[in-house]
Amino acid sequence: MKKQILDIIKKKNKSKIVSLTAYSKNIASILDNFCDIILVGDSLGSVLYNYKSTRQVSLKTMIEHSKSVRMGIKKSLMVVDMPHNTYRNSKEALKNAKKIISITKCDAVKLEGGKKIYNIVQALTKNKIPVMGHLGLLPQSDKTFKYKGKKSSERNKILNDAKLLESAGVFSIVLECVETTLAKKVTSQINIPTIGIGASNNCDGQILVLDDLIGLNPIDVRFVKKYSNIRKEIKKAVFNYSQDVRQKKFPLKKHSY
Ligand code: KIV
Repeated sequence: MKKQILDIIKKKNKSKIVSLTAYSKNIASILDNFCDIILVGDSLGSVLYNYKSTRQVSLKTMIEHSKSVRMGIKKSLMVVDMPHNTYRNSKEALKNAKKIISITKCDAVKLEGGKKIYNIVQALTKNKIPVMGHLGLLPQSDKTFKYKGKKSSERNKILNDAKLLESAGVFSIVLECVETTLAKKVTSQINIPTIGIGASNNCDGQILVLDDLIGLNPIDVRFVKKYSNIRKEIKKAVFNYSQDVRQKKFPLKKHSY
């Protein structure tokens, strides 16, 4: 059965929420059997397009990938990142969120930020647009990529932002690169699920970029556990194929018409 927003909220304090990113149909259809939430993340800017920052990702690109992902999903909740400069005010956010949802048929959108976007999130949720929040490291606006929660001012801000987002009506919050005890505090002080990436096991769920966990994206960061070395598998297959073609072992008669 297709997961709904309420199914995700109900998981808080009961069972962990499993989430991954997908940027295309075939991958989404594999993840769909194991994930509660599939996110079309704007991380595709760096992972697929080699952009220096997710700020370069356009709405059109997010919509095209989301249309593909949608075709691979039957059960999971599908969330789409609203890219940078598509939610600078309530009117713009509403117009673009409606466009994303109507074209991609996703279940919710994700926006980065806290107090600064409070009114915008509220405008969306009042218009029945389900919103996932994103706090901690904010790739669309942060200049440096350091974990959050060292300074007490930073800790207070993240905690207050989480409470504000909850009051604005978000159904869950991604906590990216948030220090362990702060992730615990935020998770225990709000009634909606937190989904961590580099934010310890104190969150209600976990998300990773699929390409990182299967070793397709050759990066090495502390919070990623590599569950496979898919580059090695692809290399092996492509090497065997190249050998077969050169040695005239492929295609054979059975592959021909
Ligand atoms: O863009 C993305 O993939 C994300 C996740 C890392 C949470 O926002």
